[in-house]
Order: sequence, then C-alpha cells, then structure tokens
Amino acid sequence: MKRSVKILSFLALSVILFWSLSNSPQKNTHYDRHQLSKPFPTSHQELITPIPETLNLNIQKVHLGELLFHDKNLSHNNTLSCASCHNLQKGGGDGLAQPVTASLQKINLPHHTVFNSPTIFNVGFNFVQGWEGKTKTLEQQTAIPLFNPFEMGNKNWSSILNYLNQIPHYKQQFQNIYASTMSSEQVIDVISEFSRSLTTPNSPFDLYLKGQLNSLTHYELEGYQLFKNRGCISCHHGVNIGGNLFQKAGIFAPIHPQNEYSPQLFKVPTLRNIALTAPYFHDGSVDSLKEAINLMAKHQLKLELPADENKKILAFLQTLTGQYQNQPLSHE
Ligand code: HEC
Ligand code: HEC
Repeated sequence: MKRSVKILSFLALSVILFWSLSNSPQKNTHYDRHQLSKPFPTSHQELITPIPETLNLNIQKVHLGELLFHDKNLSHNNTLSCASCHNLQKGGGDGLAQPVTASLQKINLPHHTVFNSPTIFNVGFNFVQGWEGKTKTLEQQTAIPLFNPFEMGNKNWSSILNYLNQIPHYKQQFQNIYASTMSSEQVIDVISEFSRSLTTPNSPFDLYLKGQLNSLTHYELEGYQLFKNRGCISCHHGVNIGGNLFQKAGIFAPIHPQNEYSPQLFKVPTLRNIALTAPYFHDGSVDSLKEAINLMAKHQLKLELPADENKKILAFLQTLTGQYQNQPLSHE
C-alpha cells in the first residue's frame, strides 16, 4: 500500500514537472518576428489577429533604448531625437504631413518624395520597414535617421559613441548589458529593442477578437463586416492590419499626383491606432480619415462608398486604438 502511494506521487510529480517545463517561457531574450507570422488562416479564423500581450524582450535593453530614443544629443546639432518625429503622445508619429526637416529636403532634392513620419507603434510586426520597405530589419532602419543629413545628421559613429561614453549612466548601463566596450551595434540593438517594445494591445477590436464580444457595438461590427466584404481586408490584414505586403497606391487610378519620381509600390501601412495618426498616406496629403477611406474605396477597390458605409467603416477603424503600458493611447 505504502509503496503504491509512493509510485503514484512520483508519477504525479513527474507529470507536474513535465508540464511546467513544457510551459516555461522561451529562453531566447530576443523577440522572434517569425513567431508572429501565422500560416494563411483557414476560413473559420479571422484574417486579423490580436496583438500579443507579452513579448520576449530584454528589459534592460528596452530601458536604455528608451533613454536614447528621447535623447536630442544624438543628433548633430542637439535638436532632434527619434521622438521628435515619432512622438509617443501623438500616436507614434509627429502629426505633421511631413517632418520638421522636410523643407531642407525640398531645397536639396526638389524632385524627391518627402515621406510622412509613420507611427513607431507596432513596428516590430512589419515585414519590412519604411513606406517603400527599403530596410529589411528594424536594426537597419534605426541606423538611417542617425546619419541622414535631413534627420539627425551625424557624420560618423565616433561622434555618437564619444557622447555616450561621456555620460556615466549610459556607459554603466551598456557595460551592464554587454560587458564589453560600447559599440555601434549595441546602440542600434538597444534602440531597436525599445522600438519592438512599443506595442499597443487590447484595443476594443482586439478584445472582441479575444472573445469579449460586447467590446464592439453593433454599429462598429457592421463596419468590420463592410471592411471585410468591401475588400479592405485583402490588403490590410494580419496582426498589424497591414505591414505584411507590398501594394500599389491606386490600383484602379492614381491616388496621388504622379511624376517620374513618384514611388509606385508601398508596404501596405498598418491601420492600428489609425484614428490618432493623421495626416494620412505616404505624403501626408489627406487630413481626414473619412476622406482616406473614400479614396481607398475608390482607387483600390473601384467603389463609391455610400456615406453610411463610410461612417461604419470609420467607426470600426476607431476601435483599433490600443493601449500602451496599460493606458489607452490618445492625443496629447
Ligand atoms: C526628422 C524626422 C525623423 C526622425 C528624427 C526619425 N525618424 Fe523614423 N521615420 C521618419 C520618416 C519620414 C520615416 C519614413 C521613411 C521612409 O519611408 O523611407 C521614418 C520611418 C521609421 C521607421 C519605419 C516605420 C514603418 O512603419 O515603416 C522606424 C522603425 C523609425 N523611423 C524609427 C526611428 C528611430 C529609431 C529614430 C531615431 C534613431 C528615428 N526613426 C528618427 C522620420 C523620422
Ligand atoms: C489593394 C490594396 C489595398 C486595399 C484594397 C485597401 N488599401 Fe488602404 N492602403 C493601401 C496602401 C498601399 C496604402 C498606402 C498608400 C499611400 O500611402 O499612398 C494604404 C493606406 C491606407 C490608409 C492610410 C494609412 C496611413 O497610415 O496613412 C487608410 C486609412 C486605409 N488605407 C484604409 C483602407 C480602407 C478603409 C480600405 C477599404 C475601403 C482600404 N484601405 C483598402 C492598400 C490597400
């Protein structure tokens, strides 16, 4: 009798041990973007998936990256930080059609497209970065503004590293994380890790997807049905409701005035937090979301949307505003 109790409790313990091991969090501290690209969903699944509530990130890197993201001394004349154009209080953009430095670009490159600052929220879910997807990774994208003469304008890494090495708490934190001499790769790594942490889960629509069916009104749900039935979802889908394929802007007719320098193919932009990220499109040419919806219907789908359908889709898009650090995102 005693013996069988022992065997039974041994078996029970093994089961518990096996269960807890197989459920233990993943070892890698890096967040793996491939985890998020699900296979093409079957018919009973939704084409849009909720933003995960937890990410596998290195918290020390995130905290240091956050400081650097907001540090204007990382620009050549100490006037711009990443946050100047990717303001976390402005939906992760700058609220401007074109960045503050755009006029400089226009003077120097008269025929060149000046891009609107895209939101920094949820960039970790994009398959490539930038409106045209010119950078393949967040790390590559992070390096560009540091040296772009129309952005943070540094000439080389040594000015950046010299500055960071002068600040004892930066130096200490790099040392704590990497235990080696500070390098450009480390700077890129911590800023990129912070950018990956900028996710906005638990929008009303995500809560709906996760089973809280009453988090959307009937009207908003009708908007979601239209978003699917009218075909918006054919381009705007996946966890970022965009960010996972290239498409033309203007399938049936150009949306924007064209010249030989006009970009043709764009990464379909995310629609997450879209109510907060006006003005719209790669050139920031459209101020109202209502207008952007009509233009999309007309130029991408050859549809004249009736006013009530536009309103319902608008109501649905407004349910895509999520939370950052457990607070709903809002205008400042
Ligand atoms: C002067 C304004 C400005 C500054 C400063 C700036 N950015 Fe940007 N950012 C932009 C613009 C404009 C784009 C779009 C570029 C393109 O499409 O080629 C962009 C694109 C991005 C993207 C891609 C987003 C997407 O959805 O494709 C990321 C990520 C990003 N920036 C991160 C950063 C980081 C990190 C810093 C600081 C090291 C920074 N940016 C500094 C204006 C700025
Ligand atoms: C054929 C693919 C396609 C379809 C269908 C489509 N879109 Fe888009 N959408 C895009 C592309 C590409 C852009 C970027 C265009 C640009 O910046 O010039 C975009 C941009 C947008 C924007 C602006 C995003 C921003 O950050 O500036 C909104 C809003 C939008 N789409 C909503 C919709 C709605 C609503 C529908 C359905 C009525 C729809 N889209 C259908 C491809 C598509």
